[in-house]
Amino acid sequence: MFVKKTVEDVSVDGKTVLLRADFNVPIKDGKVADAYRIKQALPTIKYLLTHNAKPIIISHLGRPDGHVNPEFSLHPVAQVLERMLNVQVEFAKDCIGKPVERSLAKLEHGGVVLCENLRFHAEEEENSESFAKALAKPAELFVQDGFGVVHRKHASTDAITRFLPSVSGFLLKREVDTITEVMANPKRPLMAIIGGAKITDKLDLIKRFIEISDIVAIGGAMGNTFLSAQGVFVGDSLIDSNDLPLARDIIRMADEEAKKRRFVFVLPRDAVVSEKIEPDATTRIVDFSTHVVAEIENYPRRVPHGAISVAKHERILDIGPFSGSFIAGAIQQVSTVVWNGTMGVTEVSSLIGASGPFAHGTELIVDALLGQFGFRPFSLVGGGDTVGYVESRGLIEQFNHVSTGGGASLELMAGRKLPGVEALEDK
Ligand code: 3PG
Repeated sequence: MFVKKTVEDVSVDGKTVLLRADFNVPIKDGKVADAYRIKQALPTIKYLLTHNAKPIIISHLGRPDGHVNPEFSLHPVAQVLERMLNVQVEFAKDCIGKPVERSLAKLEHGGVVLCENLRFHAEEEENSESFAKALAKPAELFVQDGFGVVHRKHASTDAITRFLPSVSGFLLKREVDTITEVMANPKRPLMAIIGGAKITDKLDLIKRFIEISDIVAIGGAMGNTFLSAQGVFVGDSLIDSNDLPLARDIIRMADEEAKKRRFVFVLPRDAVVSEKIEPDATTRIVDFSTHVVAEIENYPRRVPHGAISVAKHERILDIGPFSGSFIAGAIQQVSTVVWNGTMGVTEVSSLIGASGPFAHGTELIVDALLGQFGFRPFSLVGGGDTVGYVESRGLIEQFNHVSTGGGASLELMAGRKLPGVEALEDK
């Protein structure tokens, strides 16, 4: 249970409130390309407005490394926020000093100030006390609602709490409550579906799920690394050779777990391969189950057994139909699914407007999670590419919880403490 004070535990009436949001959203041609994080921040902003508070919203966008760079301006967010809230949004050209004071003075009843990117100041990431003090100056209360950034120890997540009474917003509370509850007390059986590129990025997550869940299924580019670690020839596929020993350790760990209890570790058994990553790519299916396991260099490897394998210039770009159906079938057998990372290259669109040639594996998982095959488990979805994909298909509302956090949700799931949460006042 969430042990920190929230906006509902303190008086916000008529106060000037410094609100940390995570508006680190994709910008394309000067416009917000995905507004999910902005939408999720609205309940706290609206609550503050209905209590006659004056919110000064601060956020980062991208990694401008302490330099002013118009490419990383939060100005496009101000326009979206104004449309969504239907109130005056005053954009302050800096997050400290006179620009904020001037914007605050211009605010009429019921409006908000949105400040320019915190990371235009190097002091933000340095967790500088003097910068935090300057941020705090116009405000009477600090509200942390930027779940996506609370795994960072920055001025706007940590040092700031030494200058203002600091409480949580609704989004932060909901994210922490939901994710902690699923990890600590899931309705079983529990399944984790993990994709994405690098094993190292999700190592702790994979290990934690091998310990606590009933099924772990792997896909995406990290699946290639696991296949390669087993000796499967993966052609020109994206793999991380540094991660090969790690992949072998994980396979061993999963094998050990399966000896102790009912536990299943699922690696791709087939794949969609192609020579190019384009909407009109010619694809074919490669079946790894036709490979036999041979003992090479003291490690069992799957080597081709007469069947055609991945060719030299081909890349694995999606899990194959057998693997997709197997995972979709497993989803029907469990009560809770945590899904982080797409199964293939979902960014490539198709020529006919539907999902692209390498999105079928991910699509099958979405269909299974949303009950297309009958049973619908509790679904917790996270990870930038995964959320981007379900958002692009307009399906976000249909999952039980889609996290706004990338690194923050991974760290929380792995059982780590989040500095931006720790720093808030206890109840
Ligand atoms: C994210 O997108 O995960 C958060 O906004 C944090 O961004 P960062 O990884 O640049 O700190």
